[in-house]
Amino acid sequence: MESKKETIIFFPFMSQGHITPFLALALETEKKGYNIVFINTPLNIKKLKTTIPTSSSIKLLQLPFNSSDHGLPPDSEDTDLLPYNLIFQLLEVSSCLEAPLRQLINDLIIQQGGVKPLCVIADFFLGWSAKVVHEFDVFHAIFSGSGGYGLACYYSMWLTLPHKQTEKVEFCLPDFPEAGKFHISQLSASFLVADGSDPYSTFQRRNLPTWLDSDAVLFNTIEEIDQIGLVYFRRKLGIPIWAIGPILLSQNHRVRDSITKPSNVSLEQCIEFLDSKERNSVLYISFGSQNSISASQMMKLARALDTSGKNFIWVVRPPLGFDINAQFKAEEWLPEGFVERVEEEKRGLIISNWAPQVEILSHKSVAAFFNHCGWNSVLESLVYGIPIIGWPMAAEQFFNAKFLVEELGVCLEVARGVNFEVRHDDIAQMIEMLMGEKNKKGKEMRNKCYEIKKLIKDAIRDEDNFKGSSVNGMDEFLMAAMQVKEDGRW
Ligand SMILES: *[C@@H]1O[C@H](CO)[C@@H](O)[C@H](O)[C@H]1NC(C)=O
Ligand SMILES: *[C@@H]1O[C@H](CO)[C@@H](O)[C@H](O)[C@H]1NC(C)=O
Repeated sequence: MESKKETIIFFPFMSQGHITPFLALALETEKKGYNIVFINTPLNIKKLKTTIPTSSSIKLLQLPFNSSDHGLPPDSEDTDLLPYNLIFQLLEVSSCLEAPLRQLINDLIIQQGGVKPLCVIADFFLGWSAKVVHEFDVFHAIFSGSGGYGLACYYSMWLTLPHKQTEKVEFCLPDFPEAGKFHISQLSASFLVADGSDPYSTFQRRNLPTWLDSDAVLFNTIEEIDQIGLVYFRRKLGIPIWAIGPILLSQNHRVRDSITKPSNVSLEQCIEFLDSKERNSVLYISFGSQNSISASQMMKLARALDTSGKNFIWVVRPPLGFDINAQFKAEEWLPEGFVERVEEEKRGLIISNWAPQVEILSHKSVAAFFNHCGWNSVLESLVYGIPIIGWPMAAEQFFNAKFLVEELGVCLEVARGVNFEVRHDDIAQMIEMLMGEKNKKGKEMRNKCYEIKKLIKDAIRDEDNFKGSSVNGMDEFLMAAMQVKEDGRW
């Protein structure tokens, strides 16, 4: 007999950075007893075939798409692999998937003997999909792998471009005053050049308002810590906004393996190093898989590590301007004798490319995490109660840093962006502030981290007599979709 399981369709944007959190959520949802259909363009589906765990029965379906038909280079189906000027173009042409999406849903319903899917969970870059999904009277939700506060700043910033209306270096967001003041240095290049009619603004000004057509937004965050951003969207969109996080990419091993890059240090070596260190004595440094700092900034960071004398694990990648996947040249990019010195003193572990982040962050020897404030790294840090030294580099990372500093009080922001003239003394001072045993500010932050860690633990508690907020969020979303399926949308 055909299974009576409900079907949920997942539709991420064409970018590894979006596909990965969607896959993590899809795997979680499958565990709850749903049929999962994961859709994307042909090349991304091909890649996914090697990523999906064998234990999963997620069904992969292709939406016909050929980038050559849209003036893009052949095989351009992943914005993470495209140069800056072509990213907009792929964003722009993604709405050509409208007819293929309609066809796919139609075929799926026929295949299932007229039974409709329970809902479609789509990317925030694919707001247009709500209209298509609603033609079938099916529930449509947007899923954001980013946090509420960061995305609220991003949303508001695109729609109002307030920095264009002022000469000042500081400004507020007219429809998001709760976020307080922004500094011009917190804007990424695409915001700085945006004037409302450039390609990126044009895309966003068409895309962002279509969120109003959706039935709900799901955020990879926790209600208790991300109120300001979530309330912004509740007010702005007037649809249910549910916090369902943390959905961590690393918790699924197969997903993690697929994003793992070759590394010269094994998990065992990392643990051995950490085991040999005192509790709360190691600084972990990693700027995520997509980012790097400049060669001169790298030198300064290394010098700061020398000055501070603290233990560290540093995941190094070639500096900006070099192929991020190339061999790391320590003799060229780090101060003379740095590697030897560090090895001799057994003070640091330098790792090229990739490190087992979760195992490192969950180790009792780790005291702080120096990172780029990408949301996945932020969540992993908070889950393990580790304070952050933030160096945001791009997009909403600047807003995540602002959130961590001003709202949560668990972060020191040491630099902003790739052109920042950072001083090694300043870095060393922040490391001391956060890791120094006797430092009052550092102690305060560690206490806040501990409280947040508890809140997150509670949010995902799923017991007979207690359901945490994120568990409830997901349940309420699934119930709302079910109700629409049973009663119709209107
Ligand atoms: C995409 O279109 C180009 C040009 O029409 C063609 O050469 C190529 O084979 C097509 N690619 C696929 C995967 O169909
Ligand atoms: C890993 O590679 C980096 C970069 O080449 C090097 O500096 C480091 O010493 C290597 N680490 C180990 C433990 O071999």
